[in-house]
Amino acid sequence: MSDKDQYAVFGSPIKHSKSPRIHQFFAEQTQQSLDYRAVLVPAEQFEQAVKDFFVKGGRGLNCTVPLKELAWLYADKKTERAELSKAVNTLALQEDGSILGDNTDGIGLVTDLKENNAIQLTAKKILILGAGGASRGIIGPIQDELPMSITIANRTVEKAQNLAAEFVHKGSIVACGYEDLAGLSFDLIINATSASLSGDLPPLPVGLLKDKACCYDLAYANEPTAFVCWACEQGALKSLDGLGMLVEQAAEAFYFWRGVHPVSTVLIKLLDAERKS
Ligand code: ATR
Repeated sequence: MSDKDQYAVFGSPIKHSKSPRIHQFFAEQTQQSLDYRAVLVPAEQFEQAVKDFFVKGGRGLNCTVPLKELAWLYADKKTERAELSKAVNTLALQEDGSILGDNTDGIGLVTDLKENNAIQLTAKKILILGAGGASRGIIGPIQDELPMSITIANRTVEKAQNLAAEFVHKGSIVACGYEDLAGLSFDLIINATSASLSGDLPPLPVGLLKDKACCYDLAYANEPTAFVCWACEQGALKSLDGLGMLVEQAAEAFYFWRGVHPVSTVLIKLLDAERKS
């Protein structure tokens, strides 16, 4: 094994992961010496694979689908945002040998919105579509920006209600079904459903976007997602997908491990240009 510090992303599937490329880019940019690889790890092998990785001198791991909840259970200690989100995408070996878990997804989204796209969240009316793990990971960091309100809409309304109940102590948040959205309008709509991945769209009424409203799909693809297309048709000022969030959550994980914050904008532009070419 190389004498460089070892990092990896575990997940299943993992073949198309951009994380090794992103972290090698950050390492070169910040002149850090490290190796980062992608490893196929199904859920049933997760615990053993993590143990082996750290026993062999690994320093930090990213965990992606379907391992984030297992990583949350595995971590000895967790950051506050990871605790709330009940999912961990970053594990770091501590000096005392314990494993600290973090969730950088939400902060990655907020950074991409605010820093890269000049979309503010403070005092805004925000709609989140979906009430699964992806929604859970972003609600806390969005609440930290002090929006006017958050509405979570979901096909299964009870799931949205349960999620809202978990976060209501941090700020205004209500739950509803898609049909209840008729007549309402928002400054920012975030698609956190997995519908995009299969080219689907939740049943959204027209008129959901306020003047100058923006839309963001947590999913990303080489072609515009169904939600990004819908947002353009509805007249969104900006209609973005999750490529920037992908890079920003990685930047935050890199900082969590190395204490150095890479600059993401160049890489986001590069990856965006590549998929358009
Ligand atoms: P993730 O961890 O990616 O959030 P998940 O926990 O399976 O995945 O949640 C998927 C979310 O996408 C859920 O909110 C789901 O709605 P239900 O809770 O009602 O199942 C939503 N979703 C998936 N496909 C959808 C579709 N075609 N239309 C609307 N919502 C959809």
